[in-house]
Amino acid sequence: MLENINVLITEEEISRRTIELAEEISKDFEGKSVHLICILKGSVFFCCDLAKRITVPVTLDFMSVSSYGDEKVSSGRVRILKDLDESVQGKNVIIVEDIIDSGKTLSYLQDMLLSRAPESLSICTLLDKPERRQTDVNVKYVGFVIPDKFVLGYGLDYEQKYRNLPYVGYVE
Ligand code: IMP
Ligand code: MG
Repeated sequence: MLENINVLITEEEISRRTIELAEEISKDFEGKSVHLICILKGSVFFCCDLAKRITVPVTLDFMSVSSYGDEKVSSGRVRILKDLDESVQGKNVIIVEDIIDSGKTLSYLQDMLLSRAPESLSICTLLDKPERRQTDVNVKYVGFVIPDKFVLGYGLDYEQKYRNLPYVGYVE
């Protein structure tokens, strides 16, 4: 088990920011509906909380991906472990991610989903670590910009554990 997990973003801060993002999305897609794509497993808590606060009609789908290579560094090659159940064609798709680090995972996913002809495609991420970016991705909705620290909790794991922490923490 890890010792000394420091709180980076509290449960209250996450909740407040999620409501703001949901309001922004609801405004941007007024009169339409949105199709949220939850990227398992990291974004599951965030995606559920966000979806509950969006006021336009919401549909949900799930995708599970894994980047090849070791745990903490993204290789950019993405393996699809579980593909979407439904077509994204003609839908206003929002990819919901936990964190953008190198940007390689999202850039790959974005290209793949764009080739499936959605009406629109945007990205919503809870966390953004811009210092680590290697591939440019255009992210419309960002919860928090964070420093280059390894974070866990609220969906994010360290060796598959700590996802259930209600806050976002970091270890030195
Ligand atoms: P990227 O392709 O480098 O942007 O990889 C992003 C993915 O790496 C995220 O979806 C997370 O699963 C994982 N990841 C990146 N940084 C962290 C972190 O600080 N804590 C936990 N997982 C992370
Ligand atoms: Mg992830």
